[in-house]
Amino acid sequence: MKPRVIHLTVNGEQREVSVSPNDLLLNVIREQEHLTGTKYGCGIGECGGCTVHIDGQPMLSCLVLAVAVDGRAIVTIEGLARNRQLDPVQEAFLDHSAVQCGFCTPGMIMMSRALLNENPRPTEHEVREFLRGCLCRCTGYVSIVRAVLAAAERGAGGEERS
Ligand code: FES
Ligand code: FES
Repeated sequence: MKPRVIHLTVNGEQREVSVSPNDLLLNVIREQEHLTGTKYGCGIGECGGCTVHIDGQPMLSCLVLAVAVDGRAIVTIEGLARNRQLDPVQEAFLDHSAVQCGFCTPGMIMMSRALLNENPRPTEHEVREFLRGCLCRCTGYVSIVRAVLAAAERGAGGEERS
């Protein structure tokens, strides 16, 4: 299939990439942008490991065609930290040992960041509901939920920069 050039803003930088009509955003991010923090878990929208923000909304990049996001702003896990400072959600995951093997962590953090952007003080139930599409084989989720609630308590809501 004939490639097409699309324009993306990736973590604040303007990018021009050549993609085939059937290229998934996930593969473009990992293989062309070399941002491998975004994980290829299931590839069918069931694990949450590939979550990125598209124009501020959390999306599963394994279900998005790259051509469909021409002209839009993508933020990946690599784009959350600024000026060598981790995002407060990332800090909270470290402080609360919410990371074990780490495979689910980028997706968990991108979803958690999106939750706090729209709801800065979620309840435990709201955190669990929002993250229910993100699967973790290691932690049992308790430490992850605790980390998100701690980030909220520290006033981490609405701090993401696009
Ligand atoms: S890789 Fe996208 S949801 Fe699993
Ligand atoms: S920390 Fe291993 S899958 Fe979540």
